Amino acid sequence: MIRPLETADIPSCRDIFTDCLQDMPWRAAHRGQHLTLRRALEGQPGWVAEEQNAGIIGFLTLQVPADYVDHLFVAEDWRLCGVARGLLEVARREAEGPLSLDVDTDNITARRAYEALGWQVVASTGGGSRGRQMRLVGP
Ligand SMILES: CC(C)(COP(=O)(O)OP(=O)(O)OC[C@H]1O[C@@H](n2cnc3c(N)ncnc32)[C@H](O)[C@@H]1OP(=O)(O)O)[C@@H](O)C(=O)NCCC(=O)NCCS
Repeated sequence: MIRPLETADIPSCRDIFTDCLQDMPWRAAHRGQHLTLRRALEGQPGWVAEEQNAGIIGFLTLQVPADYVDHLFVAEDWRLCGVARGLLEVARREAEGPLSLDVDTDNITARRAYEALGWQVVASTGGGSRGRQMRLVGP
């Protein structure tokens, strides 16, 4: 089930985020990631994927009115089950225009997923405080 994010979901989303970061060694040097997450979870529209027995298994936050997806994280045990696809579909329905997001160039898993979902690369950045990233626009 996908439903709007509630305050009570924030600790579960934070746990999924923290677990996911363990597989992203290139992000170790990024500062302020948890603060950015907290601000997004507390101040932006968001949705969670919830499974009856497992609880929260994924979440997405959306910056409006830019329609920019700034967090999309799925618990490892629940990947490749269509959770990200479902969250993005809900966000797309709520957005005014096409969705966009930035993916780390080193994040091959996510890049493959976005490619499979029909997202297009529109720009790349060479570095800076957030490392190398690619800007993608959704279908
Ligand atoms: C990227 C991520 C959000 C994808 O979530 P997911 O729920 O596994 O994705 P879905 O199951 O909805 O898959 C969507 C499509 O991507 C494909 N896909 C997903 N992961 C893939 C992978 N590792 N390799 C190849 N294809 C992949 C799926 O096969 C599916 O395509 P299909 O419908 O044609 O089969 C998830 O891997 C994740 O949370 N990663 C860690 C956090 C992260 O990197 N977030 C993105 C930050 S920009």
